[in-house]
Amino acid sequence: MSTSGIAVVTGAGRGLGQATARALAEREYRVVVAARSLEAAQPVVDAIVANAGEALPLALDVADPASIDAARDELLAGISEAWPDAKIEVLVNNAGIGLFAPLEGITADDVDRTFAVNVRGPLLLIQALVPHMPPGARIVNLSSSLSRHVSPATAVYAASKAAIEALSRSLASELGPRGIRINTIAPGPTATDFNGGAMRDNAEMRHGLGQQTALGRVGEPDEIAHAVAAFVSSDLRWVTGERLEVSGGVLL
Ligand SMILES: NC(=O)c1ccc[n+]([C@@H]2O[C@H](COP(=O)([O-])OP(=O)(O)OC[C@H]3O[C@@H](n4cnc5c(N)ncnc54)[C@H](OP(=O)(O)O)[C@@H]3O)[C@@H](O)[C@H]2O)c1
Repeated sequence: MSTSGIAVVTGAGRGLGQATARALAEREYRVVVAARSLEAAQPVVDAIVANAGEALPLALDVADPASIDAARDELLAGISEAWPDAKIEVLVNNAGIGLFAPLEGITADDVDRTFAVNVRGPLLLIQALVPHMPPGARIVNLSSSLSRHVSPATAVYAASKAAIEALSRSLASELGPRGIRINTIAPGPTATDFNGGAMRDNAEMRHGLGQQTALGRVGEPDEIAHAVAAFVSSDLRWVTGERLEVSGGVLL
């Protein structure tokens, strides 16, 4: 399969999504930088283009089914104009939120919002794009090490990530006959804006979480991004329905 295929990355305006968009562009994918606004996507597009890559911005709120439908139409129109011979070879469902609270503090709205972004959004986006993806295409969904181990006040988030893993396995079975493989990457604590930037900015938390990993520190965004890129490479073409934890060995 050509290395100039199209990769769509959600939540790509910052954090792991931005790092993944850039890592895939470095591997010569034409990258669709999907973010909640075009303004959030454009600086990432500009950075990729400045580095001799190719990218397009796309407005997409994964919590809104109407936005997913509109983004699909926008995407198909945009790529047929910019890259008429290229196919959507890769989809990275990266956008995610964590609303952390102990049992007493969990609200129905928090549960609905978390599942709308972390589970329903990826599902509806896969449903929207799979008809436009060729045999050999790859989908990576972002989970979390918290689907395997327990940390205080993370029940709803962990449940949403367990759900995306179950969804990924089922869809790997369903889409395998079409030659499409689906896997999940489960990052451990990584230094981004996530959780208010605590894993990046709070020295005490960085130290404490780092002590829980075999390699002795929290992760950096590029370390997740390169793992996503490895998962979609042809080296791993016989791997589907799997979960790869990328965490420096957290709570082994
Ligand atoms: N960092 C970690 O320690 C860690 C660990 C395990 C798993 N993860 C997972 O990795 C993924 C990326 O996390 P991150 O660390 O990069 O977090 P982040 O810095 O908080 O970024 C989250 C991204 O998701 C986007 N997003 C949130 N709601 C959205 C929506 N409704 N529609 C579209 N985009 C939306 C955000 O866009 P806006 O800029 O518009 O808000 C942002 O680009 C998430 O799925 C997260 O659960 C992160």
